[in-house]
Amino acid sequence: MSEVAPVRDLVSLHDWFASYCGSFQSDDQDVLRNYGLKELHTRNVCEAARLIARGGDPRRLMLAEVAALCHDLGRFPQFRDFRTFRDSDSLNHAQLSAQIAKENGLLDFLSESERRGVLAAVGLHNVYQIPSGLPPEAADLLMLVRDADKLDIWRIFSEYFDAPEEERASAAGLGFPDLPVCSAEVLATVAAGKMVQLSTLKSLHDFKLLQLSWIYDINFPDSLRLIKERGVLERLAATLPAERAVLDVVSQVQSHLERRLSAA
Ligand SMILES: [Fe+2]
Repeated sequence: MSEVAPVRDLVSLHDWFASYCGSFQSDDQDVLRNYGLKELHTRNVCEAARLIARGGDPRRLMLAEVAALCHDLGRFPQFRDFRTFRDSDSLNHAQLSAQIAKENGLLDFLSESERRGVLAAVGLHNVYQIPSGLPPEAADLLMLVRDADKLDIWRIFSEYFDAPEEERASAAGLGFPDLPVCSAEVLATVAAGKMVQLSTLKSLHDFKLLQLSWIYDINFPDSLRLIKERGVLERLAATLPAERAVLDVVSQVQSHLERRLSAA
């Protein structure tokens, strides 16, 4: 990576990120598409984090964007070295992101407790469940980054299915086979109002059902409003087979969203 000025604030962190992304090059168009996917994803997660944190404490808004900007740094070396975004086949990309942020001194302009909060949000953004016992500021940032991350993964997915196959970034679907099946176990988990675990998926349809189940893991009212505005659940549902069991879980997640919106 070419020499870049030390990170002193959010603006110079954005500059560092641009140069970091530029340091991942390839002659292979598909590899470039996968890097590009993560660069755009990161910028969109920053935007979503700003939308969720707006109107509150400006320092929290800044920290949310710092965490969003760093959350997927590990995706680039992960794809370069393993050609996959599937952690179980490679490494924990969230922990690698935290390590890269630390090693490059990206958070040195923050206070010690802010740095710990951002590192926790980055390093834990991919866990199935938020661990208990985190300091409240760290838990808040983590919840924020997780909401923002989901909002953009939903966008990536709906664009992925709209794009012609040859233009799709190969690793976006995590390598799940595009079979015309939804696993009964996955459908049952969504129907039970629980988040689906990645390890139980067998097909791309299952991955879409997992993304529907994320509705149970949304933390902030503004995220719920964005989900509604963007028609996230409807767009995902449109790519699934119109079978009874599928239609049932779709209407269940939609009712869950409506209930939470009216309580917000
Ligand atoms: Fe991630």
